[in-house]
Amino acid sequence: MKKDFGLYIHTPFCLQRCHYCDFATFTLEEASTNIDDYINYLCIEIKKGSEFIENKKLRSIYFGGGTPSLLELAHFEKIFKELSQNGFSRDPQTEVTLEINPATLDEVKIRALKQLGVNRYSVGAQTFNAKHLKNLNRKHSAKDTIDTLSLLSELDCNYSFDLLFALPNQSCEELKEDLTYLNKFNPSHISPYYLTLPTNHFLNINRPQEEDEIKMFGIIYDELLDKGYSQYEISNFSKPQKESKHNLIYWTDQDYWGVGLSSHSYLSRENNFGVRFSNPKTFQSYYDWVSSWQPKDSLINDRRVENFEILNQAQSLTDYCHTFLRMKQGIAFDQLVDKFGPQRAGQVWQIAESISQSGWVVLTPDRLFLSKKGQMLSNQVFLNFTFINKFIR
Ligand SMILES: C[S@@+](CC[C@H](N)C(=O)[O-])C[C@H]1O[C@@H](n2cnc3c(N)ncnc32)[C@H](O)[C@@H]1O
Ligand code: SF4
Repeated sequence: MKKDFGLYIHTPFCLQRCHYCDFATFTLEEASTNIDDYINYLCIEIKKGSEFIENKKLRSIYFGGGTPSLLELAHFEKIFKELSQNGFSRDPQTEVTLEINPATLDEVKIRALKQLGVNRYSVGAQTFNAKHLKNLNRKHSAKDTIDTLSLLSELDCNYSFDLLFALPNQSCEELKEDLTYLNKFNPSHISPYYLTLPTNHFLNINRPQEEDEIKMFGIIYDELLDKGYSQYEISNFSKPQKESKHNLIYWTDQDYWGVGLSSHSYLSRENNFGVRFSNPKTFQSYYDWVSSWQPKDSLINDRRVENFEILNQAQSLTDYCHTFLRMKQGIAFDQLVDKFGPQRAGQVWQIAESISQSGWVVLTPDRLFLSKKGQMLSNQVFLNFTFINKFIR
């Protein structure tokens, strides 16, 4: 079966560092490089890597970050030109998403980006509450977010909204206020993210209790369903036909290539379960790697890329279960058999049966998916579908 293919392009620059953020990104002041140089190396990576990409018909391009809305038009033009010169093709159905922070785009730039083919925005708004924005070290105000959303609406843009919840000292009432603000707009897609932090992080002080967190998710869920959204993945809700094509690539075992600092890739190959790798995480190591990469080094056999793994069956089955189970549609038995054979598929169904008393999963003869309770405890559920040490190829 021919797979869909998505391209992720990382921008590791931000105006500030939010206290909770663990992504590979630097403020413009602390970065040991400038944006022009970074884009030059990114384009070299596209040119060299393109030799090893078999399917160059793009279903999705995702500019993620960091804050890609900080890039200038000339940077986008350069990247798109590099892609087309190296055989990557787009059509009107190709989803081209740009992650943006409030107050980083104006009307002129949005119109120009549209000309270049950007047809979707993902707005990192997080909350409208001034106290929480400050506590998280966000640079923008609620008014900035409102202005940005108003502009996107006026220009008839397709956009998604990132909402962060379970914040320190956040009450259910404050979360409801965020949803009330959000209701004044009409994003086609909303991603409510539970604030995730390492155990000893200072922002863990005064987080809502577990039962309140569950209540918060319930508030979001009920409100969004009431407003015509459907939940197609644990943290993603969309209006009909407005699911993110890029997200779907990640969760349905399709191929993606990540270019730029720290980006992750998964590429399938015949006769094996595909490869996974991630790019170097510092500017110097990324630049050195891009510069020294010889055409004879294949992307799928480049041991100098960090975390390069040729997946075995157990790893592949683990990834498959963890990603498909994030989706509302869950795992389809016949597709599981197609990829892993009846024995492994039977094993997955047996595990599901053995934990069915917990109420975490819903099991039918042809489908397996998480219950609402299972979604809240997904990491615990996924442990049952982690096969790394259970069998080897
Ligand atoms: C990679 S960030 C980039 C978006 C953009 N720079 C911004 O912050 O507005 C994408 C989204 O990840 C989510 N995110 C970042 N750190 C998170 C964390 N520690 N826990 C949960 N969600 C997080 C935020 O909602 C954010 O909008
Ligand atoms: S703006 Fe976004 S990517 Fe940048 S530090 Fe904040 S959360 Fe992270």
